[in-house]
Amino acid sequence: MIDTKGSVVAVNGNMVSVRFDGAVSMNEVGYVKVADQRLKSEVIRIRGNVSQLQVFEITKGITVGDEVEFSGDMLAVELGPGLLGQVYDGLQNPLPQLAEKAGYFLERGVYLEPLSDQKEWAFTPQAKVGDSLERADTLGTVPEGSFLHRIMVPFNLYGTYTVASIKDAGSYKIKDTIAELKDEKGTIIPVKMSFTWPVKRPVDCFEERLMPKDPMVTRVRLIDTFFPVARGGTYCIPGPFGAGKTVLQQITSRFADVDIVIVAACGERAGEVVETLKEFPELIDERTGRSLMERTIIICNTSSMPVAAREASVYTAVTLAEYYRQMGLNVLLLADSTSRWAQAMREMSGRLEEIPGEEAFPAYLESTIASFYERAGIVKLRDGTIGSVTIGGTVSPAGGNFEEPVTQATLKVVGAFHGLSRERSDARKFPAIHPMDSWSKYKGIIGEDKVRYAHAFMRRGIEVEQMMKVVGEEGTSLDDYIIYLKGELIDSVYFQQNSFDAVDAAVKPERQIYTFDKLLHILASEFKFPDKNEARIWFNRLRQRFLDYNGSAWQDERFNTLEKEIEEAVKAQSQGIDKSAEKILAPARASGSQDN
Ligand SMILES: Nc1ncnc2c1ncn2[C@@H]1O[C@H](COP(=O)(O)OP(=O)(O)OP(=O)(O)O)[C@@H](O)[C@H]1O
Ligand SMILES: [Mg+2]
Repeated sequence: MIDTKGSVVAVNGNMVSVRFDGAVSMNEVGYVKVADQRLKSEVIRIRGNVSQLQVFEITKGITVGDEVEFSGDMLAVELGPGLLGQVYDGLQNPLPQLAEKAGYFLERGVYLEPLSDQKEWAFTPQAKVGDSLERADTLGTVPEGSFLHRIMVPFNLYGTYTVASIKDAGSYKIKDTIAELKDEKGTIIPVKMSFTWPVKRPVDCFEERLMPKDPMVTRVRLIDTFFPVARGGTYCIPGPFGAGKTVLQQITSRFADVDIVIVAACGERAGEVVETLKEFPELIDERTGRSLMERTIIICNTSSMPVAAREASVYTAVTLAEYYRQMGLNVLLLADSTSRWAQAMREMSGRLEEIPGEEAFPAYLESTIASFYERAGIVKLRDGTIGSVTIGGTVSPAGGNFEEPVTQATLKVVGAFHGLSRERSDARKFPAIHPMDSWSKYKGIIGEDKVRYAHAFMRRGIEVEQMMKVVGEEGTSLDDYIIYLKGELIDSVYFQQNSFDAVDAAVKPERQIYTFDKLLHILASEFKFPDKNEARIWFNRLRQRFLDYNGSAWQDERFNTLEKEIEEAVKAQSQGIDKSAEKILAPARASGSQDN
């Protein structure tokens, strides 16, 4: 590679313009040299022999004439065993080690190896000498956490290779040559346990893309039952400040039914990030009984780090997700918040003096957001195993206005939309997902007709509530009032979920299916009350029992007692079942497990 050199001709915030001699390509990494520091940067525009670079560090002190070295390499991440459990910044610097080296205030220009080259990994070969392999095919495995990490043919080795040699089972470091591959011309290529891949290029080593259809259970009732997310699908959580986006993502990162979770904290407040970092290692993953951190990677760029690094963190996160997908694992990527990333894009676009689009966001905002979410998917690998990347991103629209460009661009591409409402979070109705504004295109854990029936009650309940605000309770008929009470019941015992209750915080699908049937039965029952006051008192009591029922351990004694009490209370008050619901309820019981 010919080293291209250049010198700074202008500095504009986090962007420098550089005149260079030689060849430079888009997204290539360059280093701006200031005193004895080398500041990592990325080429974002080339015009003749002048290029613009976004600098991933504070640009203080850079002056015209400063030397710039171009690396010839794209902005890339290192992939190999040892990624799980790490906390990285957007450039894949391990943050704890960086803090150790540079002290409390991170120094700029310090870059560390993402993976330890000293750690030994117990390698078991899988391929044999003479095997014919392609990129991403498995050479062998090493145990990492509770997974078998596949050591694969590097993704950038296009073509077919013959295994010329492969190491016996034993302990090796990531930089040891683990195998030698012979290409079609007979050239020998040594392969190590780690390799790099450019973050902005989707990993495309798979046989075919499949349709995301199986639900990715989150154990949040409102999501799994009403607005489900599919494995390999995409969803977004837009919500005003403080409406519970981050808390919802944290719950999901703990309980979602996936193998690996990658959290990209992008431009969040530093305090919040520190909390996550402290909390995570202490949480126990109930599936493995080990620390949750063992199956988690955190990529973290706080609001106090330069904006360009936010962009990098989103791409770094999705590339790591794709890497583990190649091992036949289900990966969930949670990005919080994509608005901060979009703001970074806007800032750079402004510096480049591009023609601005809506609200000064660049015209390519939509296509950039789309191509990020398009990296989600469920794929069949060459060996027939299935891997998936599911992406969930939060959006923080100013003032909670969902009409703004980032929310709009996002909802065009995602498969589910969990809109948080200020009204609900102010009323402390958590999770504050709005049951009317939200939607999902995916199939959930419960049959559609049942969900529709319950949802209709909710809608009619809200309508009656609105009407009551105008005409008062006296002006409302008893029948309408009962619909309102039923709507309130679904809201308080099913939509809302107490994330601080040991039992109610996360509800397994079997239990959701089971209690949803109980609730449907109540909704479909026709009740008679002498007046509204009696109706309200009765429903209040029922709601309290149902909340206690939700809070008791699945099918334990208390659970069964409360269930019997609820059923008896309903039976005593019911005059029969709504005719239109009979169809839904009857097969419901018979096919309950089929829905599962
Ligand atoms: N599921 C929940 N259960 C109980 N309380 C919650 C829940 N979700 C949010 N809260 C409360 O709301 C507060 C704000 O939540 P959170 O930090 O998640 O909001 P946010 O939407 O991420 O805000 P920002 O836009 O500022 O990032 C929390 O500190 C907590 O007190
Ligand atoms: Mg937040």
